[in-house]
Amino acid sequence: MDQLKRQEAFGEAHGKLILVGEHVVVYNKPAIAIPIPLKIRACIRDNPGEISVSSSIYSGKLTDMPEPLTGISDCIKGTFERCNKALEGIHIDVTSELPQGRGLGSSAASATAVVRAIYKYFQKDLTKEELYSLVGLAETYAHGKPSGIDMVAVAGDDAILFQKPEKVSMLPAAKPFHMVVADTGLAGDTKKAVEHVKKLIEQSPHTIELIMDQIEDIVMGAKKAILEGDSELLGSLLLKNHEKLKQLEVSDPLLDHLVEAVISSGALGAKLTGAGMGGCMIALTKDRSKAELISEKLIKEGAKVAWYYSTDSNRID
Ligand code: PMV
Repeated sequence: MDQLKRQEAFGEAHGKLILVGEHVVVYNKPAIAIPIPLKIRACIRDNPGEISVSSSIYSGKLTDMPEPLTGISDCIKGTFERCNKALEGIHIDVTSELPQGRGLGSSAASATAVVRAIYKYFQKDLTKEELYSLVGLAETYAHGKPSGIDMVAVAGDDAILFQKPEKVSMLPAAKPFHMVVADTGLAGDTKKAVEHVKKLIEQSPHTIELIMDQIEDIVMGAKKAILEGDSELLGSLLLKNHEKLKQLEVSDPLLDHLVEAVISSGALGAKLTGAGMGGCMIALTKDRSKAELISEKLIKEGAKVAWYYSTDSNRID
């Protein structure tokens, strides 16, 4: 340790929702993501000896982290290396409001919070490029072939239109949108879902390319709907995107059931969000009171949790 004074440092990041374009974004097509105010916080304090970590999913030494946490472990090691520090002398405590493995960006947000906290602890300035390259270590392990949309979305405060390799533009909404985010309670597997789409492309390239082009049109339509504040148009595009994700075979029976249930209850649109095969879905509603009814319906139909979120507020409940 080269610090004599005991100290603490904090880093934070939030979750994200992919509104439209997941999966095709891996293949250089655009997608739209918005931040959601469910936070992950990392707190670092002096702790002599080996680096240790505590969180809801793992507590123990960095060197003993289980295989599924290799990504975040690589990210911590990479961050120490970038800061030119020996791997010792701290404890990292991670607390999260984000459910894990539900397509809400928890892996990118934990890595972002941890990298920010380590840089603060060593009193180093962190550029966006450094942050993305370090969080990319965790994301590559979690996703296999990440597009990068998660790490940009969890680190910023705006809705974004994202396209690989590095086209990011802000999407200021003309009017707030009212949304319900529902968790199926079933963990998704991003790596598996991304690999499944890759396999489909290898098997039927023309069919899948056509679906991907159709999703690209949906994304461009959604961009217009957001910029013009047209929630009815946005809702119909969400539903179209869900149908295309079903054709890519990344939905599942519960996600489909929840989408159908909210549409028949008057939601403007709905779809799975994130990689799918479990995870979360979103529904767009006309206003808050409709969102409350839709939340109740979702819980009745099998969702484990439903949050209300409006894009003009910093709260989710
Ligand atoms: O981490 P998830 O479940 O939100 O998935 C990210 C979205 C994908 O497009 C499926 C993968 C990617 O890297 O963009």
